[in-house]
Amino acid sequence: MELTQTHKSRKRDAYWDNLVQGETAQYKVKALDALIAAHGPSKVDGLLDIGCGTSEIALHYLDALGGRRLVGLDYDAAVVEAAARRYGDPRLEWRQADIFELGRSADRFDLVFMLDMLHEVYSFCGRPNGDVAEPIDHALGLDAARRALAQVATVVAPGGAVAITDNVLCPDDVRVTVRVLNAQARRAVGRFLDEYPARRMAHRWTGADTLEIGSHDLCILLTQYNKLKQADPARWNVEKLEIHQYMTVAEYRDCFGDLGFTLHATVGTPPDAGAEWTADFRMESGLPGLPDKRITLLAVKAG
Ligand SMILES: C[S@@+](CC[C@H](N)C(=O)[O-])C[C@H]1O[C@@H](n2cnc3c(N)ncnc32)[C@H](O)[C@@H]1O
Repeated sequence: MELTQTHKSRKRDAYWDNLVQGETAQYKVKALDALIAAHGPSKVDGLLDIGCGTSEIALHYLDALGGRRLVGLDYDAAVVEAAARRYGDPRLEWRQADIFELGRSADRFDLVFMLDMLHEVYSFCGRPNGDVAEPIDHALGLDAARRALAQVATVVAPGGAVAITDNVLCPDDVRVTVRVLNAQARRAVGRFLDEYPARRMAHRWTGADTLEIGSHDLCILLTQYNKLKQADPARWNVEKLEIHQYMTVAEYRDCFGDLGFTLHATVGTPPDAGAEWTADFRMESGLPGLPDKRITLLAVKAG
């Protein structure tokens, strides 16, 4: 089966619930609320949700901002069919399409959401031969993310904005030493480093519980090890095909700058993830503390 098909077919109901429920989802909406209130377009008629999934957050903004229409777009037929079955609202339209087809559209939108989706473009366009056993080539993945954003830029109305949420890489890629504070986390980290097919991470155990690793690899490890720790094989089977962090804030800024957008961004860690990380890890050297997990950004197109 083609890699993206395998990935689509592994997603179960709990996967979708997890994206829109719980503390990370609350964190996401709070961060988006603040950015949209401070820098969002003055008038929002048309909204586009790319990689829409269940589209719950975009639907919230359709109502909150008094929008007239929302187009939910996803390349997964099952996602689009489920959304069409679920909602009968005449303001809504569901389209099955790939993000790379957007450049052909004559539609223009005031607010475009890409919520936790661009990392999938990075992950699946970033594998040289579409082979899951091969690690993602960062240069290829980054190029795909940039090309996708260039397509998105064409459907944003002047003065409109793109809102992105995702995990993020910390600014600098430096060597760090972290202490793993308990046996359960130690086992999960060991398995993660042995089994993660998306990237082979250069690392060294300098003691039974002390890990030396690059800070960008640590960012990735931190968001994924708990699927192994919590023995959640269904989720791990989806997530292990991806890399959830691909850009630093500075790289997003460059990319949107090139497209004629002004970037407003916040980084932070949802409280539940922060508490789990603090119980499991301590930064010993290389960085002042554990890196932030997530980016929320609003990129505003010149009017
Ligand atoms: C992690 S889910 C996020 C769903 C939703 N945005 C949310 O935050 O709950 C990523 C979604 O992006 C879609 N997707 C991934 N790559 C895509 C592409 N190239 N074109 C369109 N949709 C894509 C997937 O099918 C999936 O529904």
